[in-house]
Amino acid sequence: HPVDALIAALPKTELHLHIEGTLEPELMFALATRNGITLPYASIDALRAAYQFDSLQSFLDLYYAGAGVLQTEQDFYDLTWAYLERAHADRIVHTEIFFDPQTHTDRGIAFATVYHGIRRALDAAQAQWGMGSRLIMSFLRHLSEEAGMAVLDQAEPYLAGIDGFGLDSSELGHPPSKFARLFARCHALGLPCVAHAGEEGPAAYVVEALDLLQVCRIDHGVRSLEDEALVQRLAADRTPLTVCPLSNQRLQVTPDLSRHPLRRMLQAGLAAMVNSDDPAYFGGYLNQNFYACREALGLSDAEVVQLVDNSFEASWLPAQDKQRWM
Ligand code: ADE
Ligand code: ZN
Repeated sequence: HPVDALIAALPKTELHLHIEGTLEPELMFALATRNGITLPYASIDALRAAYQFDSLQSFLDLYYAGAGVLQTEQDFYDLTWAYLERAHADRIVHTEIFFDPQTHTDRGIAFATVYHGIRRALDAAQAQWGMGSRLIMSFLRHLSEEAGMAVLDQAEPYLAGIDGFGLDSSELGHPPSKFARLFARCHALGLPCVAHAGEEGPAAYVVEALDLLQVCRIDHGVRSLEDEALVQRLAADRTPLTVCPLSNQRLQVTPDLSRHPLRRMLQAGLAAMVNSDDPAYFGGYLNQNFYACREALGLSDAEVVQLVDNSFEASWLPAQDKQRWM
C-alpha cells in the first residue's frame, strides 16, 4: 500500500516502549539456557501460543515471569541491543524507553547490572547509527510508594544517565494519587515525569496524573475521550498522549482496531502518536503498529505525517533537533 511506503521511509521517534517488553521468545529461551533456568514452556512456539490476553493483568503476569531470565549485565545489553536493531530497521532515529528496575531488584539483581547493560547498548546505538535516546525509570504502581522511594534511593548514583521518571503496571486500584510524594521527589531532582493513565483506568486517573503528579506526557490516555472537559484541556495544552494501538487491541482495551480512537484523538486536536509498548508480546514493532492502523482506520499520508510530527514534538529532544526531523 502506498501509505505503508511512506510509513517505512519516514524518520520516526518512539516514546512509549518498555525494554522488558521487547524480550522475544527466542531470546527468552536463549537467556534461560545461558543462565541455567528452566522455563515452564516446552518450546518457543508453546510460549508464543500463551500470548493470549484478556486484560492488562493477564499480560503483566507473563511479562514479569519472562523477565526472570534477565540476570547479567550482558543479558540487559543483549535485550536492549536487539530492540535497537529493530528500531533502526524501522527508521526510528530517536527512542525514549522505559525500564522497570523493581522487576529486577526485587529478584536480587543489582540496580547497577540493569542500568549499565541498558546504558551501554543505548550508547552503542548512538555511536553506530547516531540514534538518539532517553532512558525513563518507571515505578511499579502495584507496589507501595515506599518501595518506589527505596528504588529511587538506589538510582541516585546513576541519575546522570536517567532522563525522566514514569509510572506503569496494574492501573485499576492504583491511582496516581498513591504516588504524589514520590513524584514530588522526582520533580525536585529536576527531571521530567510521565505516567501511564487512562489505559484500563478511567479518565479521572488522567486528571490525577496531570494535577497531582505534574506529568508532561500521558502514556496511553485513550480513555481521556470519555471526559469532554479533559479533552479540551489536553488539546489546549498540547499534552502528548503516547498511544499504543496493537497493545490496546491485544489487551482488549479496544479489541476492534477499526474502532480505535486514534483518528478521533487527532480530530480533537490531541497530540497523539503511535508507539509499540511491549512489541514482543503484542505482535509488532513501531512500523507494524502504523501498518495495522493504516489498514484498520484507513490513515492518510497527512495523518501519518501528523502522527510522526506529534511524536517529535512530544519528544525530549532539544528544539533544534526536533526541527531537523519535523
Ligand atoms: N508495563 C508494561 N507494559 C505496560 C502497559 N501497557 N500498561 C501498564 N504497565 C505496563
Ligand atoms: Zn506501557
